[in-house]
Amino acid sequence: MKMKKHQTILILVLIAVGIKPLIAEQAKGPGLGKAIAPEEIAQWDISVFPNGEGLPEGKGTVAEGKKIYQQQCLSCHGENGLGATGDQLAGAQMALTSDYPEQTIGSYWPYATTVFDVVRRSMPMTVPGSLTNNEVYAVTAYLLFLNNLISKDDEMNATTLPKVKMPNENGFINIYETDEKN
Ligand code: HEC
Repeated sequence: MKMKKHQTILILVLIAVGIKPLIAEQAKGPGLGKAIAPEEIAQWDISVFPNGEGLPEGKGTVAEGKKIYQQQCLSCHGENGLGATGDQLAGAQMALTSDYPEQTIGSYWPYATTVFDVVRRSMPMTVPGSLTNNEVYAVTAYLLFLNNLISKDDEMNATTLPKVKMPNENGFINIYETDEKN
């Protein structure tokens, strides 16, 4: 059955009238939650960038990191970072180009600073955010040491960590640079 023109117009008008208050309501928001305090935002605003921007004050050594690792990481990541229920973090034998590539910090990660960021925001998996900045620097140092990227006497801090040279740094394509060149 065909609808007459004026019926169609009437329906469109009714829809428009019905929708308008809904749009106004959405603009106000659903009225859930509460305003967030600057201190609360600061707890989440912890991104560390590849060049080290965002790294906090603090420091940690390989030896300190080894102790923390054994108490808080070993159960999931295994002896010497070789992996258990959690990811293998060191000791890659298979190259990235092999049939079974092992993506560890040493074989895969392009930036050392990302180790700090990932550990601080997400590890230990059961209690993320529980480590102090010094502890995160220390365990980061230990993980870099296990990957033969720093020596056992090195200390990691906001100056030394961004300088650690990662073997696979050039294995990634910066899509933003590529865009500029095109
Ligand atoms: C309860 C188990 C558990 C504990 C304890 C734990 N992790 Fe993890 N961790 C995991 C799992 C599972 C993953 C993989 C999670 C994922 O990819 O999202 C992971 C991922 C990681 C990664 C990223 C690996 C990658 O290649 O993406 C790092 C680095 C890491 N853990 C470091 C640590 C450190 C350092 C500690 C101790 C302070 C720790 N973890 C404690 C389970 C654990």
